[in-house]
Amino acid sequence: MKKSFTAYRLFAGENGTPQGRFVELGVNDLSPGEVVIRVAFTSINYKDALAAVGTNRIIREFPRIGGIDLTGEVAASTDARFREGDPVVVHGFGIGVEFDGGHTQYARVAADSVMPLPAGLDLLEASILGAAGYTAGLCLHWMEHNGLRPESGAVLVTGATGGVGSVAVDMLAQRGYTVAAMTGKADAADYLKSLGADHIVVASTAQASGKPLEKPLWSGAIDAVGGEVLGWLLRTTQSDGVVTSFGNAGGAEFHATVLPFILRGVKLIGINANSPMALRHEVWAKIAGAYRPKHLERIANVIDFAQLPQAMAQLRDRASRGRTVIRMQH
Ligand SMILES: NC(=O)c1ccc[n+]([C@@H]2O[C@H](COP(=O)([O-])OP(=O)(O)OC[C@H]3O[C@@H](n4cnc5c(N)ncnc54)[C@H](OP(=O)(O)O)[C@@H]3O)[C@@H](O)[C@H]2O)c1
Repeated sequence: MKKSFTAYRLFAGENGTPQGRFVELGVNDLSPGEVVIRVAFTSINYKDALAAVGTNRIIREFPRIGGIDLTGEVAASTDARFREGDPVVVHGFGIGVEFDGGHTQYARVAADSVMPLPAGLDLLEASILGAAGYTAGLCLHWMEHNGLRPESGAVLVTGATGGVGSVAVDMLAQRGYTVAAMTGKADAADYLKSLGADHIVVASTAQASGKPLEKPLWSGAIDAVGGEVLGWLLRTTQSDGVVTSFGNAGGAEFHATVLPFILRGVKLIGINANSPMALRHEVWAKIAGAYRPKHLERIANVIDFAQLPQAMAQLRDRASRGRTVIRMQH
């Protein structure tokens, strides 16, 4: 292991806005953990972009290395479950927020947060999926657990060009679902259709209305946006449909009545991707197998570590699509 390596560290800034810069660190500068990982790939998620601007004070202690997911090989471990050279995946469990995360050549994390690389995926594929792909897989897992099947009817993905949305569109299409993709980007139709979307729904379709129920359109939905969009989804989901809510890109508050629940039996399922390890194993095995997306290379923008600050700004400005993956040079 190298004595010193490069990390992108966030420092407390004025007015609560963190300041990020590349620094040279040693392994003992990282937050504690039993496993040191030579990072192969990390990525930029919505939460990383928010954390870096200080929104909602996602990061409360500085300095901190962001990056809520990473893949790589174990460089050293004091925990007997992991040996040098093991390929591993880490996401959630507070990395990149409460503890140092993946935006570094070497990461040090708690052994309980480390998962062996799922069989059937390589490190790049697992990083293109990352926390976002896991979230998409978790939504589908719970939707199918609640009865959703390809023959049930069209499934809508909102925030469809985003990281979770892009993987969800691809995953659903590969699994045989009819996929509708909602986007606010005027030029995204070709991209979304190339991932398997059957229909494009313009974001402005989801308007507030005084009605408690509207024409049923969806057998299920994977919702990144929240806010008024979630209220509209509940009103337009067919009987026994399943809506998964995992994001608030468009707002946290929404208006709804109980009528979709009591007259149509619509189910609303909350998704928190920071799942216990046993569920991660189950869902990652599906993602690598039955749910496997087909177009990961179309979803991924693979960039160098040096491009991280600009890529983070693009994600914040809603100017990126798919997943932004950082290939770590060593
Ligand atoms: N619950 C969990 O465990 C969990 C896990 C992962 C992510 N999340 C949350 O899920 C959301 C999406 O995450 P992500 O990683 O996919 O983010 P992302 O890659 O930044 O994508 C978000 C997408 O949402 C749409 N969007 C952005 N701003 C919007 C706005 N103001 N109004 C309406 N739509 C907007 C955009 O899609 P279009 O331009 O195509 O409309 C954007 O590409 C975030 O809120 C994130 O915090 C939660």
